[in-house]
Amino acid sequence: MKFRIRRFDERRGVYWQTFEVPVRTAMTVLDGLFYIRENFDQSLAFRASCRMGICGSCAVKINGKPRLACETPVSKFKEVKVEPLDNFAVIKDLVTEFVGFFARQKRVKPYLINPNISYENPVEQIQTPKQLQVYYDFSLCIKCGACYSVCPASATLESYLGPAALVAAYRFIADSRDHGRDERLKIVSGAEGVWRCHSAMECSEVCPKQIEPAKAIQLLRRATLR
Ligand code: FES
Repeated sequence: MKFRIRRFDERRGVYWQTFEVPVRTAMTVLDGLFYIRENFDQSLAFRASCRMGICGSCAVKINGKPRLACETPVSKFKEVKVEPLDNFAVIKDLVTEFVGFFARQKRVKPYLINPNISYENPVEQIQTPKQLQVYYDFSLCIKCGACYSVCPASATLESYLGPAALVAAYRFIADSRDHGRDERLKIVSGAEGVWRCHSAMECSEVCPKQIEPAKAIQLLRRATLR
């Protein structure tokens, strides 16, 4: 199968390269990238770790859509075209800069805020299945950046929190054990928060974990208005 890969390095700039990769049963796009690196070009740069859709590091654009390379079978396509994610600066080939993405996550305080518990004083926090259900889906985000790469609002304003960070904000705001609701709502209700979203819904369309960032943003809007 033909793998067309959009490559980049500082010396050569952007260029496309095509490799013929032998296909085997249940082969994924990530398997193909490893094959290319091991057999044709050791300089091909891409990220991967868990190879099972958990770490989020292998997200790239495959045939025009952001997907996890480790969960995308090549049998879906006649030919595979691989590019780095949009809306991220490219460091080399398929490896993009995630520093800004994680800095946006940090801005929404993605952890439980509860003055009554600490590492020194751990207290069991009982939660009913119903309380868990309120935020559970949003806790499945693997921070792969797929939603951010298709977000038109993120493309036009770098300081916009973006869908993944807003999902993280809602995940903790909706958690019955958390006491940080008001401070997080202040952060997400500004011009760089929920009101910047154009409701293009692309984020929900491409999320490999079927999380709905657009829904989290709507729920956050409702909470900020209240
Ligand atoms: S390698 Fe971890 S999600 Fe693909």
